[in-house]
Amino acid sequence: MYKRLVFCGLCFVNYIMCEKIQDKITNPRVCVIGAGVAGLSSARYLKEEGINFTVLECTRYVGGTWRYDPRVGTDENGLPLHTSMYKHLRTNLPKPTMELNGYRLPDDTPSYPSWERYYKYLKDIAEHFDLEKHIKFLHLVVSVKRIDNVWKVKHKHVITGEEFNEDYDYVLIGTGHHSKPNRPVIKGEEKFKGTIIHSHDYRTPEPYAHRRVLIIGAGPSGMEISLVVAEVASRLVHSHHSPAKFDATFFPSVYVKRPDVQELNETGVVFVDGSFEEVDDVILCTGYEYDYPFLDSSSGLTFSTISVVPLYKYMVNIHEPSMVFMGLVVRACLVVAIDAQARYATALIKGNFTLPSKEEMMADWQSHVDNLLAKGRSLKDIHILADKEDAYYEDLTRESGIARVPPVLFKIRDMDMKAKIKNLFTYRNYVYTVLDNETFTRRLQDESTTSNNTVM
Ligand SMILES: Cc1cc2nc3c(=O)[nH]c(=O)nc-3n(C[C@H](O)[C@H](O)[C@H](O)COP(=O)(O)OP(=O)(O)OC[C@H]3O[C@@H](n4cnc5c(N)ncnc54)[C@H](O)[C@@H]3O)c2cc1C
Ligand SMILES: *[C@@H]1O[C@H](CO)[C@@H](O)[C@H](O)[C@H]1NC(C)=O
Ligand SMILES: *[C@@H]1O[C@H](CO)[C@@H](O)[C@H](O)[C@H]1NC(C)=O
Ligand SMILES: *[C@@H]1O[C@H](CO)[C@@H](O)[C@H](O)[C@H]1NC(C)=O
Ligand SMILES: *[C@@H]1O[C@H](CO)[C@@H](O)[C@H](O)[C@H]1NC(C)=O
Ligand SMILES: *[C@@H]1O[C@H](CO)[C@@H](O)[C@H](O)[C@H]1NC(C)=O
Repeated sequence: MYKRLVFCGLCFVNYIMCEKIQDKITNPRVCVIGAGVAGLSSARYLKEEGINFTVLECTRYVGGTWRYDPRVGTDENGLPLHTSMYKHLRTNLPKPTMELNGYRLPDDTPSYPSWERYYKYLKDIAEHFDLEKHIKFLHLVVSVKRIDNVWKVKHKHVITGEEFNEDYDYVLIGTGHHSKPNRPVIKGEEKFKGTIIHSHDYRTPEPYAHRRVLIIGAGPSGMEISLVVAEVASRLVHSHHSPAKFDATFFPSVYVKRPDVQELNETGVVFVDGSFEEVDDVILCTGYEYDYPFLDSSSGLTFSTISVVPLYKYMVNIHEPSMVFMGLVVRACLVVAIDAQARYATALIKGNFTLPSKEEMMADWQSHVDNLLAKGRSLKDIHILADKEDAYYEDLTRESGIARVPPVLFKIRDMDMKAKIKNLFTYRNYVYTVLDNETFTRRLQDESTTSNNTVM
């Protein structure tokens, strides 16, 4: 503020220039990158506030990773396929925790909808809020540089190759983080005669029928793909070191749990405990890396495959606070979190609140890091919300004035998580209904009687 006044004082003779600076402040130009859940919800709120924005999306589609594509590798324009969706996917969170604020999934939507249903929901949102006209499809963002106090965004049309260079005051990044495989190299894998893929390229279980399959990892992909593959495979060997006690007895008799992999040879896999299993195929469910190839050091951030730092409130670039990352958090109702972040970013751009000073934001971030380290954890956990999720929403509301995400959603997630650990095969039989901001009911599907939940 002070700087601006001084600058305007110096150039008061140059009315045009002052006008331009004034313009920037009252009419900021916003670039949203990606048209998935994050890009669409940002577009929705920016539009509502009459803010001047453009969404750049490198595919022809809205919905990001929710669009299933049977292909693997590259798309028709030579871009790496972004989506990691597989054909049999149903959401791993119940309906109320998958909804954007104030826009319900249709009543006839199953409790844990298929990707088709959810993808349709996202397309409906784009249509309902008339967002498509703000989206430049087939525009790949190539670079975003901070020069002379603006964001220089270079993007190119993926078919014509035409390049565009534009200046923006704010950049909202919604490019997702479930696209670039974390692909460990396994000792001896060059000898292995079977197939090896990463879950990013897993589409259907059919190729695994009557085969012996090794699945590595017990994150959401590892668990869900195991469930489906176990139905067709002759044997499913599951290697992981997850502390979660998923009850293996619920798996069909084909299932066997093993520790971490030591190495592969021609016919199978040796584990760290010295045991050996013959296998035909390997599916690596080893997660994804953070990947921002269009950013450089002018952003002021430090990037690694496991983290982006330093960020205030898990999203604001502390060194250049006109850049916001959406959906970087993990272990949360991601869609709900993204929606709240999009509202927070919009409130920020609108001028509804101002951020603390850089020093204060750094101190806040540093205390977050110190807390992690004190618990013996590392930077790789820096984006985890987990049991801090509800407090996070409260915090965002306190700071920005956005409507608070109702605590009931976190309570539902908590109960759903317990149900998953108890029985991975049956947790999707539950239907959760929100009663008010604090309470919900849970019932088994096809049961007419409901019993009120008393977990508060
Ligand atoms: C298999 C799978 C299952 C999942 N299941 C669930 C679930 O059940 N519940 C849940 O809440 N979450 C789930 N998720 C998490 C999911 O990522 C989020 O629900 C949500 O889709 C994240 O949206 P996003 O907009 O951040 O990213 P994305 O959906 O990944 O969208 C990013 C968009 O950015 C575009 N883009 C990328 N780079 C560029 C560039 N340089 N220039 C222009 N455009 C670019 C992409 O084309 C894409 O359209 C799942 C994820 C996967 C992979
Ligand atoms: C929006 O910003 C662009 C530049 O990014 C500018 O060309 C356009 O005139 C602006 N539109 C409005 C309505 O201000
Ligand atoms: C692979 O290793 C196992 C365990 O050491 C061994 O029994 C098996 O014969 C090896 N396979 C080949 C083809 O060498
Ligand atoms: C900004 O504040 C106005 C006035 O209080 C409010 O109507 C609007 O919803 C707020 N916008 C956001 C995105 O929070
Ligand atoms: C529920 O939460 C919303 C959003 O914070 C708020 O506007 C509304 O008043 C709350 N409803 C009740 C009954 O408290
Ligand atoms: C559950 O609670 C709601 C609201 O408190 C109440 O209206 C409803 O009758 C209760 N249902 C049952 C089955 O107890």
